[in-house]
Amino acid sequence: MQCSIAEMKVQSKHCNNYGRNLLVSVTGSRIMRVLVTGGAGYIGSYIVEELLQNGHDVRVLDSMLWGDDALEPFKDDDNLEIREGDIRHIEDLSYAMKGMDAVIHMAGIVGDPACGVNEQATQSVNVEATKSLVEIAKLHDIDRLIFASTCSVYGASELMELNEGSFLNPLSLYAKSKIDSEEIILHETHDKFSDDNITSTILRLGTIFGWSRRMRFDLVVNILTAKAVLEGDIPVFGGEQYRPLVHVHDASRAFVAVLEADEEKVDHQIFNVGDNDLNYQIKKVGKIVENTIDDAEVRFVEHKEDNRTYRVSFDKINHILGWEAEKDITDGVEEIKQWMAEEDITDYSREDMRNSEYSYM
Ligand SMILES: NC(=O)c1ccc[n+]([C@@H]2O[C@H](COP(=O)([O-])OP(=O)(O)OC[C@H]3O[C@@H](n4cnc5c(N)ncnc54)[C@H](O)[C@@H]3O)[C@@H](O)[C@H]2O)c1
Repeated sequence: MQCSIAEMKVQSKHCNNYGRNLLVSVTGSRIMRVLVTGGAGYIGSYIVEELLQNGHDVRVLDSMLWGDDALEPFKDDDNLEIREGDIRHIEDLSYAMKGMDAVIHMAGIVGDPACGVNEQATQSVNVEATKSLVEIAKLHDIDRLIFASTCSVYGASELMELNEGSFLNPLSLYAKSKIDSEEIILHETHDKFSDDNITSTILRLGTIFGWSRRMRFDLVVNILTAKAVLEGDIPVFGGEQYRPLVHVHDASRAFVAVLEADEEKVDHQIFNVGDNDLNYQIKKVGKIVENTIDDAEVRFVEHKEDNRTYRVSFDKINHILGWEAEKDITDGVEEIKQWMAEEDITDYSREDMRNSEYSYM
């Protein structure tokens, strides 16, 4: 049975902290109880691992669209609690947020193709659920909220380099839904007449690459690597377009760095997450894959449809948090190649390894 946010207000218990703010994580920050929505996903499962390693207590809320195998190695960890549930359901959100200090909000319908399949579902999962999440976070005295947005909010641009203050030019429903959620979070977590504000941060991620326990082969570096390994073919569509890329391990480190940063540095801030040296033209990505995988060759395909191109500045996260990427594209290509050999992966089109055409109910 669904219940309203007003009813939740009555039921809500202010049960955060448990005196835990006296305890310190391995990086010297206070240990937190952190809810990760979408924590069984490609990036979310990596964040869970990173949080546990740093000594935080973690709860996952995920509808397990792709199963929960990515969390298998951590299931016996006393500091991890896994809940299957839907961010569209107020009870699931409320239950998951009880007793938490922070929320890392990763769950959603991800990518242009998947968002285009069912526009109503995209609106409900990627935008409406964010509104509920913020309301419920306030009721539960959540201290910090970090949201996974995307650099694709910048869309196509002639500008040399885009930064967090640049004009937004969303070219897809996915990018629009992310902008709507950013606005909800930034506006609704701050009220100068209220004491219950939440320290909120938006992270605009570049396109992710690399191996994760929930693998995705619908991302450019990953799919080019898989095709190179299995078919010796690296089809590059167009190739002139720029993409800011970042390894899944580094993206996860960025979420944890923001979580553990001084409040004044991250409150109400937007950070692009990536590295200036990882703004690559796709044709260069193809060449790196070619140089890393034996007997594979780039094949250029004329292509005019995908006109997104953007180069992004990552100076802000570097200057304010001292954060920089540790891994480059070759690292990602090599680890995927090795994993495919070890696990005998022969099909990159498996439904559980791509989001592209997922039909959302
Ligand atoms: N992968 C990228 O290149 C990239 C780039 C920029 C931003 N992001 C953002 O990062 C986040 C995670 O992306 P990902 O690549 O890990 O994708 P993913 O599909 O692997 O992870 C999303 C997770 O959310 C869960 N989920 C979906 N709908 C849900 C619902 N209604 N309730 C609860 N859980 C639900 C899924 O089961 C899945 O585990 C997304 O918000 C995405 O927009 C990803």
